Amino acid sequence: MESAQDWHSAKALLEWQIELGAVDAIGDVPVDRYTLEQNLAKHTKASSTEPTPVRPTTPPAVPQHDHVAFAKQAAAAAADLEALRAAIDAFEGCELKRGARNTVFADGNPAARVMVIGEAPGRDEDIAGKPFIGRAGQLLDKMFAAIGMGRDTPLSKDAIYITNVMAWRPPSNRDPSADEIAMMTPFLERHVQLVAPDLLVLMGNTPCQTVLGRKGIMKMRGNWDEAWGKPIMPMTHPAYLLRNPAAKREAWADLLAIQAKLRDLA
Ligand code: URA
Repeated sequence: MESAQDWHSAKALLEWQIELGAVDAIGDVPVDRYTLEQNLAKHTKASSTEPTPVRPTTPPAVPQHDHVAFAKQAAAAAADLEALRAAIDAFEGCELKRGARNTVFADGNPAARVMVIGEAPGRDEDIAGKPFIGRAGQLLDKMFAAIGMGRDTPLSKDAIYITNVMAWRPPSNRDPSADEIAMMTPFLERHVQLVAPDLLVLMGNTPCQTVLGRKGIMKMRGNWDEAWGKPIMPMTHPAYLLRNPAAKREAWADLLAIQAKLRDLA
């Protein structure tokens, strides 16, 4: 029978892991890594007369600053969206990839006139491999539906296309770092070139920092800007709107401004 002491130590260990950012139990049964190490040591001793298998050598780690250069090269070489998806999937420069279940590329109609850019996948998006499908995403869908637009709409004039600055979920949904943003920016810029929307909608501070080079969403929202050859509407993130429903009024004004701009550009 387990002692009360074991129970308390196990609980303390679990709390400590949660504190460090662990959010999911990967397996149903806990793994005792101390025993694993002992077994491995025994096995290595017993089989020390066997020839050492030849392992493929791992390439030396690329210095941090090269990740951006590599991303630029890989993004520029992507001739279409499928090639870009594959290039991002193959990119090993970003540590976030190692903790993620899926690469989250995009959703919606690639012929859309509006391209929405969010920050990074959350838990639901990481599991499903699609952007904006959790509570914030459902609100985003409702917001665009209110102006007759949606991600599942086949008509390009009413369609939206959705992606994020980051293709992988940051642990505990922390903000992506400046380095992480820098190495994903070439992919995002190429993504915008390939989709070629009429305008961009930036949801929150991270895409504003990435595309416009500055943040301060509460001041920026609702004001047209321009970058990467596109008109840009910064908006407050739907997750913020869930926490601050009073701000939906301003978001509605921003959606009407987008609708009017699309009419002007048509
Ligand atoms: N928040 C984002 O910015 N993007 C998502 O895909 C989900 C939540």
